[in-house]
This record gives sequence, C-alpha cells and structure tokens, in this order.
Amino acid sequence: MKGMTPLLALICVLAGLYAGVATAADSASTGQYLAIAGDCVACHTAPGGKPFAGGLPVPTPIGTIIATNITPSKTAGIGNYTEQQFSDALRRGIRADGARLYPAMPYTAYARLSDDDVHALYAWFMHDVSPVDTAPTPTRLPFPFNIRLSMAAWNLLFLDSKPFTPDPGKSADWNRGAYLVRGLAHCSTCHTPRNLLMAEQSSRELAGGDVGTWHAPNITSDANSGIGGWSESDLVAYMKLGHATGRAQAAGPMAEAVDNSLQHLTAADLQAIATYLKTVPAQHDPVDTRAVDSWGAASDELDSLRGVALPSDPNKMTGAQLYDGYCASCHQAQGQGSFDGGLPSLFHNTATGRTHTNNLVMVILDGIRWPADGSDVHMPGFAQTLTDQQVATLGSYLIKHYGNPAAAISVDQVKTLRAGGAPSHLVLLARLALVVVVLLLVAIIAMLMRRKRQKARRAGHD
Ligand code: HEC
Ligand code: HEC
Ligand code: HEC
Repeated sequence: MKGMTPLLALICVLAGLYAGVATAADSASTGQYLAIAGDCVACHTAPGGKPFAGGLPVPTPIGTIIATNITPSKTAGIGNYTEQQFSDALRRGIRADGARLYPAMPYTAYARLSDDDVHALYAWFMHDVSPVDTAPTPTRLPFPFNIRLSMAAWNLLFLDSKPFTPDPGKSADWNRGAYLVRGLAHCSTCHTPRNLLMAEQSSRELAGGDVGTWHAPNITSDANSGIGGWSESDLVAYMKLGHATGRAQAAGPMAEAVDNSLQHLTAADLQAIATYLKTVPAQHDPVDTRAVDSWGAASDELDSLRGVALPSDPNKMTGAQLYDGYCASCHQAQGQGSFDGGLPSLFHNTATGRTHTNNLVMVILDGIRWPADGSDVHMPGFAQTLTDQQVATLGSYLIKHYGNPAAAISVDQVKTLRAGGAPSHLVLLARLALVVVVLLLVAIIAMLMRRKRQKARRAGHD
C-alpha cells in the first residue's frame, strides 16, 4: 500500500494541474466573450490600428479624449496592472497611478460587473491580447477639465459603484438581460439622456440620448416612442443582423455596436437582452402619436417628373427628382424597397418616422458601413454628391411621404451635422455648471479642513 502513495500523489498533482490549466483556459475564453460583449475594441482601437492599442479620439462635450492602450505592454499598455488595479479602472474609473479616468470610458456601466467577470476579463487581456509597445498621444483637455481630480467630485455625485444585484422576483433570463444591458453591453451609455453635467439620468433609462452627431433613440417599452410594439424576435434579429424588417436598421454607432459586439453574442444572451428591454419602464414622447415604425405608405411623385427638365441650379431640384436620381434604384420608385428587407422600405421605418431627424441626415451623408463584417458598405454615402440644400430637400420629401409630418430637416441642420456637430448651448452650460460644482467642492473641503485645524488648536489649548 505504501508504494501507491507517491503514484497517487503524482496523479493528484497532474489532475490538479490539468484542472488549473482548464480553468485558466475557460476563464480566458470567457474573458474574450466578455470583451466582445463589452465592445472594448470599439473605443480602444484606432481606425486601421492594432486591436486594443488605443488612439481613437472620443469626442465629448468637454473636448477630445483619447482612448488608451490596453494591451498587456509593460511600457505602453496595462502590462503592469494588478487585477485589483484593472478592477478599479473598469468599475471605479481609477487608473493604476491613482488618476481619475474621464467617463468617456463607460466605467459607470461596467461598475455593474461581477468579480468573476472582471477576473475573466483580466485573465484574457493579460494572457491572450498581443502587447503593442506604442502609446497613443495623451489626452489634453482645456482647463478646468484637465484636472482629473474634478472627476472625483463627479464620481461622488454620479457613480453608483454597486455591482449588479439580481432581482429574485424576476426570471434568470430577465436578470441576465438586465446585467448585460445596464452593465457590460452598456446600452445606456448611448441610449440614456444625460443631465447638464453629462451624467446619465437614471430615472429616464434608455429614453434616448445623443452620441456625437447621431441620436440613440428611445428604446424603452413605450408602444409609440420606443420598442413596445417590437416582438422579442424583432429585437434579437436587429442585434444579430442589424435590421428588423419593416421596423428599423442599424447605421452609425449602432451598426458598429452590432458589427463588433452584439452579433457575436449567444442566442441566449440576445434573448435575455430582449426580455429585459421589453420591461424597461415606458417613456413617452407626446409627438409620437403613432408608433415610430408605422408612419407613411408607398407613394411617388413620378407625374411631376415626366417631361420636366432638371433645373440648371442643382439646389433647385425637387425632392422627387433627387429621390428618383439617387435613391430609387435601391429603395424603389415608391420607397417600398425589395429583397425582403435587404433593401429596406422607407415607410414603416423608424429612420423616417422619428421626429428626431439627425440620423436621417447622417445616413444620407455617410451611408451605412459595417467595417468588420467583410461586406463593408451596405449603403453608399452622399456627402460628396449632394449639397446641404439637396439633403434638406430630399430629407423633407422622405418625411412628408414616408415619415411623421411633424418632423423637419433644415439646411442649417445639415450644414452643422456635416461639419461634425456644433458645441451646443447645453454644453457651454454644462461646462459652467461643472466649474461651479468643482469650486463648491473645493470650498467645502477647505472649510472642513479649517474646522478640523481649529478643533485641533482648541484641543491643544485645553
Ligand atoms: C465608449 C468607449 C470605451 C469603451 C467601450 C471602453 N473603453 Fe476603456 N477607456 C476609454 C477611454 C476614452 C479611456 C481613457 C480615459 C481617460 O484617459 O481618462 C479608457 C481607459 C481604460 C483603462 C485605463 C487604462 C489606462 O491606464 O489609461 C482601462 C483598463 C480600460 N479602459 C479598459 C477597458 C475595457 C476592459 C473595456 C471593455 C470591457 C473598455 N475599456 C471599454 C474608452 C472606452
Ligand atoms: C455606441 C452607442 C450605442 C450603443 C452602445 C448601443 N446603441 Fe442602440 N443605437 C444607437 C444609435 C445611434 C441608434 C440609431 C441607429 C440608426 O438610426 O440607424 C441605435 C438604435 C437602436 C435600436 C433601434 C431603435 C429604432 O427606433 O430604430 C435598438 C433596438 C437599439 N439601438 C438597441 C440597443 C441595445 C439593446 C443596446 C445594448 C445591447 C444598444 N442599442 C447599444 C447607439 C448605440
Ligand atoms: C446601393 C443601394 C442604395 C442606394 C443607392 C441608397 N440606399 Fe438607402 N439603404 C440601402 C440599404 C442596403 C440599406 C439598409 C442597410 C442595412 O440594413 O444595414 C439602406 C438604408 C437606408 C435608410 C435607413 C437608415 C437607418 O438609419 O435606419 C435610409 C433612411 C435610406 N437608406 C435612405 C436613402 C436615401 C435617401 C437614398 C438616396 C440619397 C438612398 N438611401 C440610397 C441601400 C441603398
């Protein structure tokens, strides 16, 4: 019997080693899946750059913030991060050197992540991502935003750092969906409106927010303004394929989210997201007197084109002439589209049914690109072909025939969007408000410190 012991011990050690390797491998592949669900690559990769090497400028109302290198490079990336430091960056917005991150990094959403998921992400980034030893240009914001400590005050006001706690009254599927939507998949980063200090308004979860020149629409359960009329399978199809036939298609930042992230999620996770979305409290916009995907009907103005010469001034072309010349080849004479949604109809489409018309302008200017799916261009952009006046005329034509007539598109709007959007008055106000908050906090801290010193002095006199 005695001779068996070393052999048994060896078997145990080998089995233990195997189990260790297996859990490390599991953890790494889980980590990769989580990184995809969190779409880390979207911000941490510059166009044409190496994955996760940073360099993408993220435009924010307070200035351009450059995403950093999160490859495990010891000189330019996060190679020296401990798991605790990684967790603090991800969930509390604190860098390894103690400096605060700007909330352009969605740590307010990632704060919901479980310890296990942070662990798996860390394992994958450290072991499976190739290190890149070049650091992108550092972020330089104007005063007072260059003071990263001001974010400590912001976090105090707006960061809810509690991890996700499941609701025992709801199904496992619902809880998984809530965890993904509020946390890793950070839908609220784009879809929740923000207050003057650029923090998400939690009472208006997913009621619609702005992402640069795009609008991430209301996706609450409201039947008219949101996705209340969508079936769960419509939602799953939208996230998997980038379009839900007869309702909507993903362009701009949403096409990127589908392309890099959502289409790669498991069927169970997409279903869980859909289950949760259908229960998000409805937020209604009174302008949506019908469901945003139910406006318009097949129609044309072909009569107005027959025997009429095109005007010599291209800015005088009518909507019908522009539509016939540039769009009808794909979307068909009456806007009805074809190929079972491959070329979508322009009526019964949220793109024309929403009174928020920036996306309609953006899609005409930029078209629809899915850089990662190989097919690349889904719809060409017309920024080089059409003038601001022409885009406004065409957009107004589309709204009149196929959309909500309460909507409008102006030449100035097209001009502004073409130029990349303008800093709004709200942004100026936000700056002012932020400065005031920071000053107030500094004043309060100074007062507290003086009181403490006075107390200490008094204690010394006694
Ligand atoms: C919406 C854009 C965005 C997404 C998505 C995003 N990040 Fe970031 N991240 C940033 C930006 C911008 C910074 C730099 C912020 C700053 O300098 O204050 C940053 C910083 C970081 C840092 C700090 C690194 C350092 O030392 O500067 C880590 C770690 C990090 N991100 C990890 C991740 C991980 C992991 C994911 C995916 C789960 C992720 N990020 C997704 C934008 C993003
Ligand atoms: C990076 C920003 C961003 C993120 C993250 C994001 N979205 Fe979107 N989403 C948008 C934008 C912008 C649109 C509008 C796209 C368009 O009109 O082509 C959109 C459109 C949609 C629509 C269609 C709504 C309509 O009326 O046409 C749905 C549904 C949707 N998103 C769901 C989600 C879900 C669920 C998540 C998280 C799993 C998510 N989005 C994450 C930016 C984002
Ligand atoms: C070469 C074919 C083609 C042409 C030409 C074309 N489109 Fe499209 N368009 C598409 C396809 C394909 C989609 C849907 C892409 C998808 O589902 O990913 C689309 C989508 C759209 C959408 C919905 C976008 C969204 O965000 O939901 C609008 C609006 C639109 N096109 C308007 C136009 C207008 C206006 C013109 C003319 C200036 C035009 N298209 C010309 C192929 C075309």
